[in-house]
Amino acid sequence: MRLHVADHPLIAHKLTVLRDQRTESPTFRLLVDELVTLLAYEATRDVRVDKVQITTPVASAVGTHLAAPRPIVVPILRAGLGMLEGMTRLLPTAEVGFLGMQRDETTYEAITYANRLPDDLSGRQCFVLDPMLATGHTLVAAINYLLERGARDVTAICLLAAPEGLRELDEAVGTRGDVTIVTAAVDERLNERRYIVPGLGDAGDRLYGVV
Ligand code: URA
Repeated sequence: MRLHVADHPLIAHKLTVLRDQRTESPTFRLLVDELVTLLAYEATRDVRVDKVQITTPVASAVGTHLAAPRPIVVPILRAGLGMLEGMTRLLPTAEVGFLGMQRDETTYEAITYANRLPDDLSGRQCFVLDPMLATGHTLVAAINYLLERGARDVTAICLLAAPEGLRELDEAVGTRGDVTIVTAAVDERLNERRYIVPGLGDAGDRLYGVV
């Protein structure tokens, strides 16, 4: 597993505003969108491409375009949905699949309640969107799900990660070179309710309100 912490002053600035409890949902949504686009730029560094011959108004040239099959972007519902637009802005030709997962608030295990993905993901590059890598249970379940269906490599984009979740992922998929985590920051720890500290609170509630 590879970990990439996107260390950039603009990312740090936007993340600080996100963390602030005074930031209201409309601004929070806008900032998540911008932050994901910046993280997506880092996360797509190894997106697969082919060479292509083109003709400019001046001469013929060899260029680059995204290779087939198209990458798949997989937001994990609910909070991952707030990251979708920021990702597809950079990868407009990607296909989008959905995984509905939530954590059981007593066991903290991931429960899958919805899935809209092709059964066969052979050779596909997958980008999973999940804002908070807390215990790691949701992401381990999602990554295993995609790899079992043949995904060639999986990159998870998270706004924040906790050391406990990274350890859990490392134990589950650590030896796999085809799993990458891209995040804006690794925070201190989880609290007793498995929230990231200092974190930003409940990402879904801050994006969409408490429903
Ligand atoms: N999910 C969240 O939304 N926030 C956390 O801090 C942990 C899990």
